Amino acid sequence: MKKTFSFILIAGFISIFLISCKTEESIDQKIEKLLSQLTLEEKVSLIHGNTYFTTPAIPRLGIPALHLSDGPCGVREENSPYGWSPANWNNDSTAYFPALTSLASTWNTDLATEFGDVYGEEAVIRGKNIMLAPGLNIHRTPLNGRNWEYLSEDPYLTSRISVNFIKAAQANGIAVCAKHFALNNQEFERATINVEVSERALREIYLPAFETAVKEGEVLSIMGSYNRFRGQYACENPYLLQTILKGEWGFRGLVMTDWDAAHTTAGAAKNGLDLEMMPMEGTKDSYYTGQPLLDSIKAKKIDPKVVDDKVRRILYVMVKLNMIGKSEPDTTGMEALLAAPSRAKTALKIAEESIILLKNEQALPLDFKNIKTLAVIGDNAVRKHARGGGSTVIKAKYEISPLEGLQRKLGNSVKINFAQGYTISQNLKTIDQALIKEAVKTAASADAVLIFGGLNHEPGLDCEGTDRPDMKLSYGQDELIKAVVKANPKTIVVMIAGSPVDMGAWISDVKGLIYTSYLGMETGTALAGVIAGDVNPSGKLSYTLPVKLEDSPSYVLGEYPGKNGIVKYNDGLLVGYRYFDTKNVKPLFPFGFGLSYTTFSYRDYKLEVSGKDESLKCVVSFYITNTGKVEGKEIAEIYVRDLESTFPRPFKELKGFSKVSLKAGETKKVEITLNQRAFQYYNPDKKQWVLEPGKFEILVGSSSENMQLKQQVEL
Ligand code: BGC
Repeated sequence: MKKTFSFILIAGFISIFLISCKTEESIDQKIEKLLSQLTLEEKVSLIHGNTYFTTPAIPRLGIPALHLSDGPCGVREENSPYGWSPANWNNDSTAYFPALTSLASTWNTDLATEFGDVYGEEAVIRGKNIMLAPGLNIHRTPLNGRNWEYLSEDPYLTSRISVNFIKAAQANGIAVCAKHFALNNQEFERATINVEVSERALREIYLPAFETAVKEGEVLSIMGSYNRFRGQYACENPYLLQTILKGEWGFRGLVMTDWDAAHTTAGAAKNGLDLEMMPMEGTKDSYYTGQPLLDSIKAKKIDPKVVDDKVRRILYVMVKLNMIGKSEPDTTGMEALLAAPSRAKTALKIAEESIILLKNEQALPLDFKNIKTLAVIGDNAVRKHARGGGSTVIKAKYEISPLEGLQRKLGNSVKINFAQGYTISQNLKTIDQALIKEAVKTAASADAVLIFGGLNHEPGLDCEGTDRPDMKLSYGQDELIKAVVKANPKTIVVMIAGSPVDMGAWISDVKGLIYTSYLGMETGTALAGVIAGDVNPSGKLSYTLPVKLEDSPSYVLGEYPGKNGIVKYNDGLLVGYRYFDTKNVKPLFPFGFGLSYTTFSYRDYKLEVSGKDESLKCVVSFYITNTGKVEGKEIAEIYVRDLESTFPRPFKELKGFSKVSLKAGETKKVEITLNQRAFQYYNPDKKQWVLEPGKFEILVGSSSENMQLKQQVEL
């Protein structure tokens, strides 16, 4: 019986293997057939853009145009073909999803799958083939203007969340584009800055999410970044593109430039780039890989075979998406289909689960039965964020602000008095005393006070193209919060920000603090739900909140933002909590931290190790009990600490996590399997990942600071 079963199993595996070989074979055959029918001029036309967001079609062979679109929060509005100005269509308003920082702070991989799924659906309705997301860059400095578009300071969390997003989005028959490959960790001088980083930090911190996207997510496209790495532009960097991405990782899809990120014809042709997007600034059709490439080939300076490889990869994506011979996508009637209620529901779920409760001295949830007047203060209570931030901009079908969310929830049962508190201005240091005075007055007479502050997508804050000047709150928010708390000690602060902000001026004075990134079209609904206690907060920080900028690793160990066009990542492996832990620096709130309206306890820790090398399995199991009075979700975080190592390693590193939903009083068993990668480091001399035998400690934390269980294991 057992034998027959194994036979069936083996036969099954063999046939799956043969089928997949065959499909890859037939894909290759299709590609080679098309390639042999293309002229050199046609091939060259395929390897650069046509308009800003499309590639050309070759109708005689059924090769269609590729339609590309930003970005991580949903499908961007239609642009004019040769510029950045909107095309002003009246039917392209879409769903506005939470930022990827929000998705990461849910720590919920199933939600990442749901997100990818609805995201892909919207793209299909809009007739897009390649969506320019997710952004997989690591939060290295608190000041990066695009942190909010990326997921986390931790490569493991970034990988696990993004890979599910990628798989689910691509299952809709579109490609996504993991960006910005690689080391685009600041906006300051992003177009030219040269990043110097050790091989270990490259492999262990900055590349793992891309590696997972390729190997597990089978991502079909990758966008090279603007910056340079070890002296060469990322889009023309043979080590990144050929040696690592296409060589070591076996990437079969296409590599495109970031917009206008090619620099030379020879570099773009020879070093692993496949598709150049956006013509050289200000021109309609001059590309490094256009006429200059044809001229170089004709002059025998460049081998035409390099073009074949690029075309193969572009065709590979098209064949995978079943596009060859198909007509242009039909988008008639799309207006009615975009941002459908089912997708809005997913946007809401992500928003709710991403909200992080950082401080709660019996301040939250608000008991609205006993509240007659509520003061709502601050520009972020009414600000809509969809329209800003750079390329992630969304023309949202709707966006419910926090104030609107509260009004909808409370109706006439509570009188809401709004005060602006602060206004946005180009000078981030502007303080409007009259607005502070008005806010204080509104707060003093209210039964409860909510201040909505933080950042927004104005240039110099959470916005593409520039970094923030410092970690301080802008527009006099510190003064506002201090004055309002003094007038009404029941004040609760809600920070909306995609990066760390300095809260030192008032943190010890407030009783309640909620922290969230940009939450998308259902922002207000989600926040009102948490504030009123209908939703139990379950998000945890995907990055460390330092007390002040001067405590952060890129500042202390540096460099940031670099000197004379070069930024040396002297912080090496010590990014985020890896630094705070290893150097014993106390953050304001640690990575992985977040409270709930209930409490949890952990017990009965077990470790079971079996196999070795590739088949090594370390099964970590324990029980979590909801010890409070309401239903809630807890995120258990598994950290691995190498106790004996030849090379320096961070104090501990996240290698697993699980989010569990528990009714009041309920207990559930959690089981997480770690494989050999969880214990390895990258050995630059051997050029491979290595597990150094010895003792490891496996810790289970409710944050990176609060360890609940630990045990050692010898491997
Ligand atoms: C951004 C990319 C974006 C592209 C197209 C660039 O400026 O860096 O993230 O996808 O523009 O809009």
